[in-house]
Formats: sequence, C-alpha cells, structure tokens
Amino acid sequence: MPAYRAPLLRFAANGEPLYDSDGLLVTQANAQGVQQVLDAGPYQAVAARHPQLQLTQHWPDRLIVPGFIDMHVHYPQLDVIGAPADGLLPWLEQYTFPTEARFAMPAHAQQVAQFFFDELQRHGVTTALAFATSHPSSVDAFFAQAQARGLRMMTGKVLQDRHSPDGVRDQTEQSLLDTETLIARWHGQGRLGYAITPRFAPTSSDAQLRGAAELAARHPSTWIQSHVAENRDEVRWVQPLYPQARSYLDVYRQFDLLRPRAVYAHCIYLDDTDRALMHTSGAAAAVSPSSNLFLGSGFFDYASAQRQVMRYGLASDVGGGTSLSPFRTMLAAYYVAREGQSKPGLSLAPSQLWWQHTGGAAQALGLEGVIGSLQPGSEADFIVLNPQATPLLARKTAQAQNLQELLFAFIVLGDDRAVERVLTAQV
Ligand code: GUN
Ligand code: ZN
Repeated sequence: MPAYRAPLLRFAANGEPLYDSDGLLVTQANAQGVQQVLDAGPYQAVAARHPQLQLTQHWPDRLIVPGFIDMHVHYPQLDVIGAPADGLLPWLEQYTFPTEARFAMPAHAQQVAQFFFDELQRHGVTTALAFATSHPSSVDAFFAQAQARGLRMMTGKVLQDRHSPDGVRDQTEQSLLDTETLIARWHGQGRLGYAITPRFAPTSSDAQLRGAAELAARHPSTWIQSHVAENRDEVRWVQPLYPQARSYLDVYRQFDLLRPRAVYAHCIYLDDTDRALMHTSGAAAAVSPSSNLFLGSGFFDYASAQRQVMRYGLASDVGGGTSLSPFRTMLAAYYVAREGQSKPGLSLAPSQLWWQHTGGAAQALGLEGVIGSLQPGSEADFIVLNPQATPLLARKTAQAQNLQELLFAFIVLGDDRAVERVLTAQV
C-alpha cells in the first residue's frame, strides 16, 4: 500500500476543493494492477485508520494534485503550434493538413507520439482525449505509446472524406471499416478508449456521419469527438451544406452524434437552444481558450454555459492552442471569462479553473469517479508540484494566505518547471 504524505488537493463530486496542508494519500493496486486511491485526507486521521501503514514518501513542501486532463488536443499538431495564418480555415489549409499528411508514414507517427507523451508528462497531463490523423497507423502509434506508459488515454482516426486535400482525405466505406477495426483492437484495452472522430461537419459526407453514428450506437462506451461553432467563416460554410439543420450543432443532432461521451471542441457560436441541446443530450464542450485567442476564433460564453448547466472542461487544442501546459490554459480561460462574451465579466475562482482541468473534465468525459478527483476508489494518477520551482513562484507561494491564492500563483506563474513528478496509476 504505497502512501504519500504532503499538502494534498482533492475534489468532491460537486467540484468543491478539499485541501489538507498535511495530507495523506494511500493507494492500493486493483486486480488489473492499477493503483487506486484507498484513502485520502488529513494525515492524522488517515494514518490512524491504517496502523500497519509504511510511509512511501514525505514531501512537506510540495503539493499533490490530481493529474491534469486535456479534453481536446491534436497529437499530430505539435509541429503546427505557432503557425501564423489568417484564422481557422486558412490555418487548416496552409499548415495543418500538410503537417497531418506526413502521418501516412508510420515511423513518423511513432516518433511524434513518443515526443507527444514525453511533453504531456512534463506538463503534468495524465489523460487526454486526442485527435490522431486520418491514417489508421497514427492511432496505433498513439495507443502503443500510451499502453507502454500505462496511461488512461483516448484517441481515434479522423474521418474526413470531403473538402479535404489529397494526403488527408479518406474514403467513406474504408474509413468506417478502419474505425471498426481500431475499436476492436484498442477500445477497453487496459485504460485505453476509442473516440469516433469526424473532424467536423464540413469535411464529412452524410454517409460518413451516418456511419460514424451507427458505430457510436453499437459501441456506446466509445467516445465521439469533433469540432463545432469555432469560427464565423466555418459557421457560414456549414449553413448551405446542411440546409435542414437549425444550427451548426443541430447537424450533429440530426445525425445522432450527441450523447454522453460526445465531446465538441469550442462551442463558441451556440445559442440558448443549442446549449439546451448540449444539456439534454449529455454531450460536453471542450473549452480551448488559448487556441481561440491564437486563431482569433472568439470567446466561450462562460456565463451562459453555467446558466444552462452545460457540461464542459478545459483543453489545450494544440496546435491551434499555443501550449500543452494546463497552467497556460487555465490562465487563458480566466482572461476569457473576465473579458469575453460575459458582461459583466466573471472572475472564475482558481479552484474552479483547476476543477475544469481535472475532476470537471473527468465528469464531462463520463469518467467521474475514475480519474481527476483523487477520491477513494478512483485511479491514482497524480502529480507533485514544487511551489519553489522558480524564484518568483517561490516568493509568491510563500505569501499565499489560503488555497485560492496558492492555486492562482501556480496558474499565473507556473509552468512545466513546477511539475516535479508524475505518478501514473499503472506502471
Ligand atoms: N476544425 C477542424 N479541424 C480542426 C483542427 O484541426 N483544429 C481546430 N482548432 N479546429 C478544427
Ligand atoms: Zn481541435
């Protein structure tokens, strides 16, 4: 029973932060060899419940937190970060599709997948819902790396059979056969999950969207991921392609692609009817503030999402996003809530931002109680932060009077240097 004593942050199921300045986290392997949280809380109380316990680690001047969860990231787009283009659609044409075309070479996919997981780990991200490319071997490369590292990870082959250039465009029937084969090969293997991945409505034919929905219905524990209502030109493009749809989001409803475990990136240009549809269907939004700021896409409407009780969580959306760092994403989300669509601006509490990147993201993904909270019974993916990682962070965290001030110091001043260790539930 490994046991870790340190300042400890957990989350209750309602998002309330639970903080112990002297905490104890006790874990135990389940039958599959996955470490789960057996007990957690104040050191004295938890230690008293386990008299036979031998302390594995004692880190009095560190902070244990749940591993971060990135709800939407494109692993093949690491090389696209920082590509200058005039908004989403030119960015896809000029940089993103040519970069993704290189994943036709399995050796390239393997090399990038390895690099991607090294980077995720350095940034303290222990679970991601990721896009691969349209090449099936890009999925194999991702899952093989995730499996070797014992990570809980989801990805899928991108479906895009129209309005896409040679090199990334796929064939309708073959794309669905490939998806089915990949589901059989990877979904539910250890901690891996398959995500059925139509890129977005304008690059899939009706037949491909229908096929994707049929697979999603036959495999209800898979994820669905796509993009919606990210950019004004994109929204204008979709309208004539689907004249029967009430809105862009309604396209996905018509094709039965809204359900729990369906994750739609961006969700900027939604109206109240769309948000009600997100709520009733159980689909979730992946809020990607650094990407939306970088590509000039717009601002997620936090106030409306909260009012209409939409499920959402945070995402880097690399390579539209500019960093894999959860600290950078949380800070961008804070800016957007303050100065974006919501008037008057919202000041998201640091613990709320943190929740959106951990336990809240887990709930939005349908993984509540599994990851993101460090509640008893959940998987013990956690990271150890160093409040003294840089001189200014040390100065600022030393003056923190309470949990919110401590977390905000990390959000504003922290980066990969603050992530000292990453402990994965399966090794
Ligand atoms: N919409 C369709 N494809 C993409 C993509 O790769 N990135 C972003 N940000 N939006 C998209
Ligand atoms: Zn994206």
